[in-house]
Amino acid sequence: MANDNYNTESNGLAVHVRGVTKTFGAGEAATRALKGVDFETRLGEMLMIVGPSGCGKTTLLSVIAGTLDFDQGELEVLSASLHKMKRREITEFRKRNVGFIFQQFNLIPTLNLVENVSVPLLINGVSRREAEQKAQALLEEVGLGGRGKDHPLNLSGGQQQRVAIARALVHEPRLLVCDEPTSALDKDTGAHIMELLRAVGRKPDRCVIVVTHDNRVFKYADRMAEMEDGRVTRVHDSYSSYDPSTQH
Ligand SMILES: Nc1ncnc2c1ncn2[C@@H]1O[C@H](COP(=O)(O)OP(=O)(O)OP(=O)(O)O)[C@@H](O)[C@H]1O
Ligand SMILES: [Mg+2]
Repeated sequence: MANDNYNTESNGLAVHVRGVTKTFGAGEAATRALKGVDFETRLGEMLMIVGPSGCGKTTLLSVIAGTLDFDQGELEVLSASLHKMKRREITEFRKRNVGFIFQQFNLIPTLNLVENVSVPLLINGVSRREAEQKAQALLEEVGLGGRGKDHPLNLSGGQQQRVAIARALVHEPRLLVCDEPTSALDKDTGAHIMELLRAVGRKPDRCVIVVTHDNRVFKYADRMAEMEDGRVTRVHDSYSSYDPSTQH
């Protein structure tokens, strides 16, 4: 259990979740999206979360990333106890340590691509010049080096998704959470992106969590967690012990 003496990182863990619950709305309209989630992710791994639509994957990722408050339970992320922190402290922690690739890419339409990718660096106080240089390098890494001055609305879905990936990586966050990062990508681009994400996750002090429905990318997982109806129900030590035919 997480307690005052517990240290996530000294136990080789990146994230430690215990009994986390989240209900949206109240009364008859209430939806219990998380019903007591227990699981952990390790430093140096890429963990995939799979499960049917509506089972709570995006909710869980948002809670872990610190973008959504939860109701009950304990959550340690890189040795920070989010359940004990104030919203302002969580926001500060998230800015430095967490990258988030959203299911809807959430790019800023009025900014060009270099500017979009620069945002996480600028909010951490990096100079515009340095931020834009790094942003350009990341755009090159995702195959969009020539499009830096273009705007998100001129891009295909897959191109927008790659910009969102570049933006999540640019400040080298120790924890990266990715919601369906290959949903708009063709097979080859998806494979390239997954290799990039796995290489990030396998760095000894980092961790990548990926939610996906895309069975073409399961093979990149170091471990797989199955979610069902608001809970993590099973964790597999390799993707090969996971049988997709049991999925809904
Ligand atoms: N902001 C919200 N307000 C009310 N209910 C919500 C909200 N976000 C999610 N829910 C509900 O919580 C449950 C879990 O939703 P969530 O988005 O986490 O599912 P998911 O597993 O990511 O699904 P998908 O695979 O379709 O993306 C669903 O029943 C959903 O309707
Ligand atoms: Mg979702």
